[in-house]
Amino acid sequence: MTTSTPVCGIDFGTSNSGVAIVRDGVTEMVPVEGAHTTIPSAIFFPAKGEHPLYGRAAVEAYTIHEPGRLLRSLKSILGSELIAEKTAVGGQYRSFEDILVGYVQHLKAKAEAHAGCKISRVVMGRPVHFVDDNDVVDARAEAKLGDIARRAGFKSVAFQFEPIAAALSFEHTLASDELVFIADIGGGTADFSIVQVGPARRAKPNRADDILANDGIRVGGTNLDMRLSMSAVMPHLGSHAQSIKGLDLPRWPFVDLATWHRIHTIATPKNLHTLQQILSDCAEPELFQRYLDIIRQQTGHLLAARVEQCKIDLSSVDPAAIDLNGIVDDVTVTAGKHLFETAIVHELERIAATVAATLTAAGLERSEITTLFLTGGTAAVPAVKTLLLALLPQAHAVEGDLFNSVGFGLALEAQRHFARRKAA
Ligand SMILES: Nc1ncnc2c1ncn2[C@@H]1O[C@H](COP(=O)(O)OP(=O)(O)OP(=O)(O)O)[C@@H](O)[C@H]1O
Ligand SMILES: [Mg+2]
Repeated sequence: MTTSTPVCGIDFGTSNSGVAIVRDGVTEMVPVEGAHTTIPSAIFFPAKGEHPLYGRAAVEAYTIHEPGRLLRSLKSILGSELIAEKTAVGGQYRSFEDILVGYVQHLKAKAEAHAGCKISRVVMGRPVHFVDDNDVVDARAEAKLGDIARRAGFKSVAFQFEPIAAALSFEHTLASDELVFIADIGGGTADFSIVQVGPARRAKPNRADDILANDGIRVGGTNLDMRLSMSAVMPHLGSHAQSIKGLDLPRWPFVDLATWHRIHTIATPKNLHTLQQILSDCAEPELFQRYLDIIRQQTGHLLAARVEQCKIDLSSVDPAAIDLNGIVDDVTVTAGKHLFETAIVHELERIAATVAATLTAAGLERSEITTLFLTGGTAAVPAVKTLLLALLPQAHAVEGDLFNSVGFGLALEAQRHFARRKAA
């Protein structure tokens, strides 16, 4: 089944985004930044009100200290009140929603440039749950993402769960039917689906019967970055220091600096006043001074990126250094795999509990799963992979394209969805 004009799928990820199109029955990833088929979900507003930069260009501008502001992980605020708030960027106040409209417009323009024509129909990916345990907020987050896509210029907007999109990508490669457990562990969420896939099922107009269960939690690579930062870096900035009176320092400054989507919320005049007070009360002011320097010099995102790089390095080496050059020049930090894996125990437990809940919802024993399809960048963390394999002992693991499976599958879904609507 083909559609005459191209349709697209957009995987708006917490850390990276991707776009795929289907035209004349052929599905392909769109080069969204140079030849790359993924783009960091990062936006940089130069101080002087020029147009924003997106992706690697945004990160680069920030890294070389161009005056301006970097925003990252904005997907994380979709379900929160923050989405309606305005923030000072590029010399004016803009709402986060408007900023995201610009981002989706940017992705749409890339798809259209590649297709050579306008594209008005999109399937947007969404996590199974934008937030944990709150269906109302969850529905609001999806509605908001729909508004954003329409305001970006799409006329028809549909949604699909990200792990189902990954299942469609996997199915695209299959020669026989399989029952697959999909684990899509990205930057912001861990999403799971159990799906019957295979060539005989591909053409079915309605796949509802093939989907045995979906579940997900708000645990992803950015949480692991936060834990690593809290364990390995924040003690050097005073997180374990006490006040002169012997009390613990407040935790929020450290948690916020270690949390990607909260970094830009720290430097308000009110907070700066409080932070200054913490410094005056601190028994080890030389440590907390480092913290304040990071806030004043706006190197918080750089720090988060260096911690993230250490986490990625830990997937293949042990120990790994956290390069603090240009952030805290008098400190060197090395983190070992053991420290990292100890720091993320809570996240691993939550992943394990959600895998179990997904199996229960499908009415399956863990031994009945024979294929585990892994996608999302955090599936590359050895402790995560080992855990999933231990939870599904009969499964053989298929490592998909960690960064493109969801986007590609969303385009397959767009083809199916819009062809069906046309036929209806
Ligand atoms: N080799 C690696 N080892 C460990 N983590 C990695 C590796 N490569 C990427 N990551 C992590 O994967 C995450 C990004 O993955 P991905 O691009 O799949 O997320 P996303 O799709 O943007 O997020 P989500 O789907 O949760 O909204 C980041 O936290 C990144 O640090
Ligand atoms: Mg993803």
